Amino acid sequence: MSAEQTAVIVLAAGAGTRMNSAKPKVMHELAGIPLLGHALTTASKIGAEHVVCVVRHEKELLTEYIQANFSQVTIAEQDELPGTGRAVECGLAALPKDFNGRVVVTSGDVPLLDAETLGELISSHAELGNAATLLSTYLENPTGYGRILRNEDSLVGIVEHRDATEDQLEIDEINAGVYVFNHAHLVQELEKVGTNNSQNEKYLTDVVAQLINQGHPVESMVTFDHWTVAGVNDRAQLSQVAAELNRRLCEAMQLAGVTIVDPASTWLDMTVSIGPDVTIWPSTYLQGNTVVHSGAVVGPEVVLKDVEVGANATIIKSHATSSRIGDGASVGPFAFVRPGTDLGADGKIGTFVETKNAVIGDGTKVPHLSYVGDAEIGTGSNIGAGTIFANYDGVNKHRTKVGSQVRSGSHNVFVAPVTIGDGAYTAAGTVVRKDVEPGDLGMNVAPQRNVADWVLQNRAETDSAKAAKLAKDND
Ligand code: UD1
Ligand code: CA
Repeated sequence: MSAEQTAVIVLAAGAGTRMNSAKPKVMHELAGIPLLGHALTTASKIGAEHVVCVVRHEKELLTEYIQANFSQVTIAEQDELPGTGRAVECGLAALPKDFNGRVVVTSGDVPLLDAETLGELISSHAELGNAATLLSTYLENPTGYGRILRNEDSLVGIVEHRDATEDQLEIDEINAGVYVFNHAHLVQELEKVGTNNSQNEKYLTDVVAQLINQGHPVESMVTFDHWTVAGVNDRAQLSQVAAELNRRLCEAMQLAGVTIVDPASTWLDMTVSIGPDVTIWPSTYLQGNTVVHSGAVVGPEVVLKDVEVGANATIIKSHATSSRIGDGASVGPFAFVRPGTDLGADGKIGTFVETKNAVIGDGTKVPHLSYVGDAEIGTGSNIGAGTIFANYDGVNKHRTKVGSQVRSGSHNVFVAPVTIGDGAYTAAGTVVRKDVEPGDLGMNVAPQRNVADWVLQNRAETDSAKAAKLAKDND
């Protein structure tokens, strides 16, 4: 890039009416990041001296997001005059008074625009010495987009879909809404733009024809990857662009050595990282800051958000959030792993098991039908089927501590706070209210009493009574 200074203005002030949403359009997410986040990431990558984001609709929400995630971005506010042209004017007002470089304009609703394409647009603008350079592409279905008007081959202007004639609607070259302008020319021409169009808005696109009419050099650069410039105006387009971005994310992972059996049903957030030789089975969602280490097998039907999965671990048909799964550990099917679960290496959280705030040591297994909440379990222990860690007394939560090499019986209740020492056993059906010392057997089961012939006397003539009688007769 030449010595000339660059400012990027990202437009995000529109209401996004076509989304029919209480949430502003640019805050709708794609691969775990708002549309605006994608646009600001690209804008921040091209080495510009200034990045300005223009907001108005739901400006508090947008401002909060921008300040938290893009602290170097200047926020400008659009006034009541609508239109992309007015938005750019408001953005320009946020630049230093003596700024006189080039102005790049992008949209908050064009999420797949990449820094490379934007860089090429800027280079071509600089090389040709243009007053304005815009990005265009050809679309099979250009509905909704501004059309590029040409006389012979040379650019003459842009007409919005809503303002276009029948003939102009046939044009399949569209305006991507991504531009580079010479600052002085842009400021001068925007002043003259009126609102004489179907929306009574001040269109940025009018600047293009005005510059051409005055004999200034204006060119368009065509990109043939139409996804790069796809705009999101409604939720149908949101899902189409999301599918394409996901396809690209999956492909990049596949090329880096991840087996993704069915990319169409595997949804990855931008922020996810996956190691080599991981296998992902269909219907799997990896979200947030999830990290999957090499050799792990995830899916089918797994949702992980902010989870670290250790090397060679396996997770089947399960849901996990803000947790860590150790190397070689196994989870599921049908496990619900809630925040604060830390499963050690080669440990197991099995079928119909729910965990929360639970540190489960290396090699410890919770195989079946259990709830483990607010617990700390040592290494090599086995928690019997159907065990409940009763952590809540109705007012407060309490912790249970289970040592290493413990064998707890089936259908136990650990009434917290309670501690079970290393190497202790508990009998089936025990309600553990008192600490069990290391090596002890805890039990509080009442001796079993059988009432002789109860069924024959109290349920006479039933199938049970008949079966019992038959068994007795055969005895
Ligand atoms: C715009 C272009 C169109 C182009 C298309 C590409 C104009 C007049 N039209 O149309 O030629 O083909 O993008 O995607 O520029 N915005 C503001 N303030 C406003 C209005 C809009 O900041 O007053 C922002 C929006 O938040 C959005 C962007 O500008 O991020 C584009 O606005 P939108 O209404 O979506 O324009 P399109 O109709 O898509
Ligand atoms: Ca748009």
